[in-house]
Amino acid sequence: MSTQEQPSESGVPGRVVFLDGRGELPMLEISTAWSMAEIYLQGAHVTHFRKKDELPLLFLSQCSRFAEGQPIRGGVPVVFPWFGPREGMGQHGFARLKTWELKEFAPAPNGSVSVRFRLPDCPEASAFPAFTADYVVTVSETLRLELAVTNNSTTDEFLFENCLHTYFEVGDIRTVSIRGLGGAAYLDKVANFAQKSETGDSIRISSEVDRIYVNTSAPIEIVDPGIGRKIRVEKQASLSTVVWNPWIAKAQQMPDFGNEEYERMVCVESGNVSLNEIRLPPGEVSRLIVELSSGPLQ
Ligand code: BG6
Repeated sequence: MSTQEQPSESGVPGRVVFLDGRGELPMLEISTAWSMAEIYLQGAHVTHFRKKDELPLLFLSQCSRFAEGQPIRGGVPVVFPWFGPREGMGQHGFARLKTWELKEFAPAPNGSVSVRFRLPDCPEASAFPAFTADYVVTVSETLRLELAVTNNSTTDEFLFENCLHTYFEVGDIRTVSIRGLGGAAYLDKVANFAQKSETGDSIRISSEVDRIYVNTSAPIEIVDPGIGRKIRVEKQASLSTVVWNPWIAKAQQMPDFGNEEYERMVCVESGNVSLNEIRLPPGEVSRLIVELSSGPLQ
């Protein structure tokens, strides 16, 4: 275990501790004056974020695997360079399964802590033009996530999808409203990818939901009367929002998810997937930024 501290303006130092996490996978525990977070190097996966006066923001399954090369169920999987299934390859890309390199961590004078990871070279990447993927997680009163992909090729476009697959903890899914997607077009994965349009201002969930909302950069609010909390998802350079809850039957089919856990989670994911796939010209950088904040429901 090792520790790095820096005094902050708030008087409470931002602090990073290196630990063996579950399954003996290496992880970082970050504390700030406002919050705590845990990040596994495998997948650069944020598994926990909690403000001091609140319940955890992120849902993490009690049944999640913590094993090398296996996805973690909950927190924020980094989905890249493709979303969903791909023939002959794993679902949601390989980034979430790799042990990312820890490049730097910087407790800032204002008390926040930023940690930068880089996706290591791996055989799967050779199917794409040369690229680098950096992921910066900033922990403060909010959780800010930035996935920067650089196309290092001088000749080829880089076609990819990205998605920060945030699992949120909620009190009771049946009472939750998701706001901000009114009027948006979506692909309904539970209806064979039928193209639909969101009619209401507020989405309620009472059965399996798996939708890719496209061409929408609007911020989302998750209103949760059960916990008495409102979560805000603000995003930049993201045209897709995915909303997912597996509900009862699918929950029972997932070995790494509890049968009843669908009741206290919802995924509201930010990225560029499906029709919003990114075509990155040679030499350019794409920066997907998501900032999560929360507060009491008034
Ligand atoms: C969502 C997809 O983003 O992730 C769903 O829209 C999928 O179709 C879910 O079931 C979980 O995926 P996985 O690979 O982590 O089980």
